[in-house]
Amino acid sequence: MLQDSVAKLLNEQINKEFYSAYLYLDIANYYAHEGLEGFENWFKIQAQEEQDHAMLFRQYLLNNGHPVKMGTIADPYAKYDDYKKPLEAALEHERYVTSSINAIYTEALEVKDYRTVQFLDWFVKEQGEEEKNAEDNIRRFELFGDGKGLYMLDQNLMGRVYTPASLVLD
Ligand code: FEO
Repeated sequence: MLQDSVAKLLNEQINKEFYSAYLYLDIANYYAHEGLEGFENWFKIQAQEEQDHAMLFRQYLLNNGHPVKMGTIADPYAKYDDYKKPLEAALEHERYVTSSINAIYTEALEVKDYRTVQFLDWFVKEQGEEEKNAEDNIRRFELFGDGKGLYMLDQNLMGRVYTPASLVLD
């Protein structure tokens, strides 16, 4: 049986993950408009992954007999004045999501909800990867983000393909 304090945070996380998807689609829209289809591709796939995360939290709540409430998703639109800004916004956002996952983890430990702790372990690892990916994008942009390098980087990001989450809940 899920404690209400943990269930509330898990439910809020659904909204945060869908917001993440929305934010990354907004960034994909920006790059598409700028003609950088590789960057667009990378963020479109990132948005798909975020939807997967949201659905995992939803399924976990349902599997544990808890009702789910879908909240309003905030408007993610931002005006970016250079190509690097969205990459920095993405890293900042991932750090925020990490802190949010950590807060649920802390609460689950507090109330001795070890099942949720175990469920969250996958997300703790995933956040490590997501932050690293966001940092790598910034680093690669700093190295190759101008002139011909930008074209090569865009081609490179075009190669990202969607892979479903390795965590599966029935
Ligand atoms: Fe689902 Fe990028 O955190």
